[in-house]
Amino acid sequence: MPSIFITGAGRGLGLEFARQYSAAGWTVTAACRDPSRASDLAALSVETVALDLADASSILRAAERLAGRSFDILLNNAGVYGEGQQFGRLSEREWERVMLVNTIAPVKLTEAFLPHLLAGQRKLAVFLTSKMGSIADNSSGGSYIYRSSKAALNAAVKSLSIDLAPRGVTTLLLHPGWVQTDMGGPNALITPEESIAGMRRRIDEVEPGQPLKFLDYAGALLPW
Ligand SMILES: NC(=O)c1ccc[n+]([C@@H]2O[C@H](COP(=O)([O-])OP(=O)(O)OC[C@H]3O[C@@H](n4cnc5c(N)ncnc54)[C@H](OP(=O)(O)O)[C@@H]3O)[C@@H](O)[C@H]2O)c1
Repeated sequence: MPSIFITGAGRGLGLEFARQYSAAGWTVTAACRDPSRASDLAALSVETVALDLADASSILRAAERLAGRSFDILLNNAGVYGEGQQFGRLSEREWERVMLVNTIAPVKLTEAFLPHLLAGQRKLAVFLTSKMGSIADNSSGGSYIYRSSKAALNAAVKSLSIDLAPRGVTTLLLHPGWVQTDMGGPNALITPEESIAGMRRRIDEVEPGQPLKFLDYAGALLPW
């Protein structure tokens, strides 16, 4: 059975990814900041790993703890929205925190877990981004911190897709839709079950070596 490493698996979309892949019989390694408090994840009986993406040493410790293991898919799901996104009220400290978790950490995680990914069969690195990171799609302004963190993630993943292609790694950027999670809120348009079912189909459709795509959960190509 294929194996997958998922970040931010204690709640929201990460938890639903863990639930669906585990139900499908995959070997799931689920990372979250504090596994002892992730009771919904514990109920799935998947392997858990402590990982705080805002702490570079935590990323290295998780990779070391799993040394020698292989993962077919590295799923960079964890992310934060950030506080105070209005022009005139922007906090540099908050902007740095969000960039660290949403942009820098997924790349550092991919660096740290590259041996695990290269040891796997599929060698697929997936990144949860957002339509809000699309510069072409931005018609309403605002959300400076979140938008820029995901636009920068998209740019970094483009470089990863080029740099890692010779090593057989395929990359994919996915927008989950507007989903009912703590981040998406109760008025969001779709449930985590629908979003994850769609994104799993997109992941299944990836052809080894295909060029980087920026897709939504339903398979639509999104503009950069
Ligand atoms: N929901 C939407 O409508 C929507 C739309 C577009 C894109 N997205 C993207 O989809 C992904 C998942 O979002 P979601 O809706 O599931 O969000 P969520 O419900 O707010 O959950 C966020 C997850 O990220 C984890 N996380 C936050 N900071 C972390 C850190 N420093 N280290 C490790 N884990 C950390 C959280 O862990 P803790 O429990 O420890 O806080 C939690 O598991 C994100 O990348 C988000 O930007 C979501």
